[in-house]
Amino acid sequence: MNIFEQIRKDHDTQRDLLDKLVKTSGDTEKRNEIYTCLKKELEIHADAEERHFYKPLISNDMMQEKARHGIAEHHEIDELIEQLDETDYDSSAWLKIAKQLKEKVEHHLEDEEHKFFQLAGKVFTEKEKTSLAKEYTNYMEQNL
Ligand SMILES: [Fe+2]
Ligand SMILES: [Fe+2]
Repeated sequence: MNIFEQIRKDHDTQRDLLDKLVKTSGDTEKRNEIYTCLKKELEIHADAEERHFYKPLISNDMMQEKARHGIAEHHEIDELIEQLDETDYDSSAWLKIAKQLKEKVEHHLEDEEHKFFQLAGKVFTEKEKTSLAKEYTNYMEQNL
């Protein structure tokens, strides 16, 4: 698998968890289980992506602005996660913030898959696409 296929696969995992998360309610084991899992997925994925996807792109003139934009969105996602951490599961605000997180993440994944990947595909060589996939996957496996 190349770096794009590998990232896309993890994006699908995130989409699936987000769909499940907004169907949970109150202070339940299920909500806690899905949220804990999603939070870890999002955090480790953003780290792995910044190291093994954005970092090698940021020095490229064509990609610098996009890479910065992508990383800024990771911070916006972090802020929503922090808000959720500070809110009780049984508060009515929790689901509202979870829905904001779902929208924010889905928008970000769309940007990456439909805008960034196309451009990055022109920047990386075939060899880089494969070696970055390995580095990305190793990071995910070691940290998740
Ligand atoms: Fe990302
Ligand atoms: Fe991503």
